[in-house]
Amino acid sequence: MFNLTDEDFKTLVTYVQKNFGINLSQKRILIEGRLTNMLKDRGIASFHDYLNIVFNDKSGKEINELLNKLTTNHTFFLREQEHFDYLREVVLPYMEKTCKNNEIRIWSAACSSGQEAYTIAMVIDEYFGSNKGKWDTTILATDISYDMLAKGQAATYPEATLEEVPEAWAKKYFKKNGDGTVTVVDKIKKEVIFKPFNLMDKFPFRKPFDIIFCRNVMIYFDAPTKVGLVNRFYDVTRDGGYFFIGHSETINKNEAKFNYLKPAMYRRGGD
Ligand SMILES: C[S@@+](CC[C@H](N)C(=O)[O-])C[C@H]1O[C@@H](n2cnc3c(N)ncnc32)[C@H](O)[C@@H]1O
Repeated sequence: MFNLTDEDFKTLVTYVQKNFGINLSQKRILIEGRLTNMLKDRGIASFHDYLNIVFNDKSGKEINELLNKLTTNHTFFLREQEHFDYLREVVLPYMEKTCKNNEIRIWSAACSSGQEAYTIAMVIDEYFGSNKGKWDTTILATDISYDMLAKGQAATYPEATLEEVPEAWAKKYFKKNGDGTVTVVDKIKKEVIFKPFNLMDKFPFRKPFDIIFCRNVMIYFDAPTKVGLVNRFYDVTRDGGYFFIGHSETINKNEAKFNYLKPAMYRRGGD
């Protein structure tokens, strides 16, 4: 296995922390373990040489690949189902009553390969039923990983994915491709727009969101980064809007402006 020198390790940790908010300071062994084979395959002699390649690559491809190796993109349909039950039972009825121009603005931040955003779209489709056509509920799905965004955009997953969803969803929201994969049907697919976005960057939104999902990414961020990010989410949430985080994540109640509702569910103001 290749080893990182103290200096190279520090340089990498500082760079990733500063640019992506991801805290790798306790991950030295993981970095060495996950990257050694790749360095060998590519004939790169040391971590020092590799970091030079990464830092000099203006395309962003190298850093992207490095982050892909060090973070997990793990996700699945209906992950943390409590959120989707709450969406259907509480959030959507509230939005139906209060949203102007029949528009509900939704953001799946750190969407990975899209299952979270498509789950939201399926819940919405069922909720509005034949009235769905009167509503604009396009979901913005963002991630830093171009690979994951491409997978989300393709909306094609292994057939075993069907085990993650109720039988009725498997029938109406997926089509089998006959090669061991399934693809999300067009009417759901067109509800999600995928865009690359680094959560450390300034938020470019003009209009606030009604619902934001930012789940299972803040675990990588250190406390100050997390607090800053949650407050930026707050700033782009409309009054009465909802904010969902992963169940294994926490927000310090004293530092967050969101009101706590239930584990991993928050709200800006509200009635
Ligand atoms: C474990 S997945 C979460 C997927 C989904 N939200 C869920 O809960 O199932 C974490 C995702 O966060 C993305 N990510 C990590 N750092 C990020 C950053 N600074 N900005 C945007 N996305 C980031 C990773 O690329 C990865 O796809």
